[in-house]
Amino acid sequence: MIVRSVILGVGAYLPANIVSNAELSKRVDTTDEWITERTGIKQRHVAAEGQFTSHLAIEAGRAAMEMAGIKSSELDLLIVATTTPDNTFPATAAKVQAVIGRPGIPAFDIQAVCSGFVYSLAVADNFIKTSQVKTALVIGAETLSRFLDWTDRSSCVLFGDGAGAVVLQAAEGQGTSADRGVLSTHLHSDGRYADILYADGGVSSTQTTGLLRMKGKEVFRHAVVNLADTAREAVEANGVTFADVDWLVPHQANSRILDSTAEKLGLSADKVIVTVDKHANTSAASIPLALHQGVTDGRIKRGQLLLMETMGGGFTWGSALVRF
Ligand code: ACO
Repeated sequence: MIVRSVILGVGAYLPANIVSNAELSKRVDTTDEWITERTGIKQRHVAAEGQFTSHLAIEAGRAAMEMAGIKSSELDLLIVATTTPDNTFPATAAKVQAVIGRPGIPAFDIQAVCSGFVYSLAVADNFIKTSQVKTALVIGAETLSRFLDWTDRSSCVLFGDGAGAVVLQAAEGQGTSADRGVLSTHLHSDGRYADILYADGGVSSTQTTGLLRMKGKEVFRHAVVNLADTAREAVEANGVTFADVDWLVPHQANSRILDSTAEKLGLSADKVIVTVDKHANTSAASIPLALHQGVTDGRIKRGQLLLMETMGGGFTWGSALVRF
């Protein structure tokens, strides 16, 4: 017998304000046609004035707890993956904790940019596997619209705001790939590429938050290689093949990256959950948002094998194989 972290519930929240490509083309020199062809993105959600990352996180977290059927008093751990915290400190997780109403448990943020959700899933899974906690709430939440350079058409069209969450709970497993729960996680980082995708400011350097800067072509080139590699290590670590994977639930960066990666892995497009068209790249929120979509529209079913993979600034990248 071993301990597995089973996903009991999934939640999502997208701000009400939707900005279409056509609307964006009134603000920057771009077109719906260019954005759709290069990225697959049709629209993004933008948080309202006064609506912060913690507000989005709370909505998604509550929805995940509701689906899981658990009360905040049952939570032992709260992690928020975000690159766009409400404040430099305290952690956004602490602000979420105060509203959700579970004082005393550990609550902290993880900053791994677009890989934040997979990093957080791995951390929570390890807390659960070592029996330090039984139930964890893991949220990915971002208000990326707040640190985009709205004069840079090559980056501002790609991102949006949103939050997604899962509730994980310890359950007994046999130690095989037939177990329900997180089967394995695989994390990577390579700081040599920090200047390809970064914010050009920070507390210690400029005393500002800075704006997102990206060399898009180079990100693309690294992303397709790293995503395929980390997807392969996840299936190999569990003695399964891509034919056993029911759904690829990838980080939603852009549809060309999703298509190229699926093709490299020999996965057909109808096995990939794609939501990037509806909310653009929401960084740490994007995998749980895609998971939520797949679960609520009935495609993802209990017992199915899910492969999550992601890549983001740092570079960071990683994967998780999960039996839902
Ligand atoms: N609208 C219209 N034209 C544009 C826009 C725009 N929004 N943005 C750039 N262009 C122009 C450029 O100025 C350039 O014009 P030029 O030929 O006259 O110089 C032309 O389009 C081509 O630009 P490229 O940068 O070569 O376009 P490319 O085909 O590489 O597509 C893109 C750019 C979409 C950013 C692509 O490189 C990409 O998808 N990169 C991955 C980036 C990504 O997903 N980042 C997310 C964060 S990391 C992650 O999550 C994995």
